Amino acid sequence: MKTIKPVILTTSLIITAGIFADDAAVFKKKCGACHTLKNVSSAKSGPDLTGVASRRPEEYVKLYMTNPAEAKKKFPDIFAKEIKGKFQFSMPAQKLNAEDTLAILNALK
Ligand code: HEC
Repeated sequence: MKTIKPVILTTSLIITAGIFADDAAVFKKKCGACHTLKNVSSAKSGPDLTGVASRRPEEYVKLYMTNPAEAKKKFPDIFAKEIKGKFQFSMPAQKLNAEDTLAILNALK
């Protein structure tokens, strides 16, 4: 028993780190051209998204990725306070499959 625990712990740490690295890579590829994410990208066309999935409702963040116009309509208060008038252009809707959406959501927590 004494040796099994550290092995399990090490394995799960490696798996967790692996998942995070993948999530960040998906973000970098799909969103990194416009958005900052701490330790991943530093683009400034759009808002800094570090921790955005913890600061805002999950439904909002999910919707914004593939349908920003709808997200703004459904969450008008967030849009008015945080986004409106602060950026040069509106975010274009992104094409994402369910797997990528989940990975990006993880990276933004
Ligand atoms: C071509 C540039 C571009 C790309 C690519 C892009 N965005 Fe954006 N994004 C923006 C801009 C500009 C805004 C703010 C202006 C607006 O939407 O009206 C924004 C706003 C957002 C917001 C609202 C932030 C807040 O503080 O409420 C979220 C969430 C978001 N983007 C997520 C993403 C995700 C996730 C991806 C990748 C799947 C992505 N964006 C890809 C340009 C981009």
